[in-house]
Amino acid sequence: MSYRSGEMIVAASVLNADFARLGQECDEVVAAGAGLIHLDVMDNHYVPNMTVGPLVCQALNDYGVSVPIDVHLMVEPVDALIEQFAAAGASFISIHPEATRHLDRSLALIRDLGCRAGLVLNPGTPLAVVEQVLPRLDMLLLMSVNPGFGGQAFIPYVLDKIRAARQIIDGSGLPVRLEVDGGIKVHNIADVAHAGADTFVVGSEIFGASCYKEAVASLSKAIAEGAG
Ligand code: DX5
Ligand code: ZN
Repeated sequence: MSYRSGEMIVAASVLNADFARLGQECDEVVAAGAGLIHLDVMDNHYVPNMTVGPLVCQALNDYGVSVPIDVHLMVEPVDALIEQFAAAGASFISIHPEATRHLDRSLALIRDLGCRAGLVLNPGTPLAVVEQVLPRLDMLLLMSVNPGFGGQAFIPYVLDKIRAARQIIDGSGLPVRLEVDGGIKVHNIADVAHAGADTFVVGSEIFGASCYKEAVASLSKAIAEGAG
């Protein structure tokens, strides 16, 4: 699968999956149409919650998850964990600018280790930082909730930020994906697509559904309507 911008991808956040059977859960959402497995890594320091470390990424990789693993690091500091997640089979590694003293160095490290580099901006963090580091990025991830928990409500003002980010990316001519994370549901994903996102992190709307296939199909249909 290629990751040129423009191709619409649903990234399934496994935060609300059944962790006792995570491999099968990933198989089921991939069969349902998810193009990435989004792994939320929380350290009870950068965010007030704790989830999984590189062991779980390695386990999914060894299990044979058939789509790339999109690691969202909500940890501080980041550099040691970038190395561990790269070794554990991550494809994308995204970091928050507040979580590293040397953003350029941390982003360069991700690519040096053979992964795709992402920068994550919280709802209250301005886009300005992006313009400096855009050449270092394969992905820009805009948070549409405050990081730390699944199942929160989408913050509407982020739609303007998505539009502005789309202009910056298109203006640069660089192949940077624009991902949005948090509170994305069937009822609002068309707006997110219309604003310019091409990669959609969805957690509770998929894992809370009784049929993953129907959930991803409804999301994909709404994306196509919004983007069209
Ligand atoms: C929040 C995480 C998100 C979130 C997505 O810190 O980064 O990936 O869990 O879950 P929903 O779709 O439930 O908001
Ligand atoms: Zn996330």
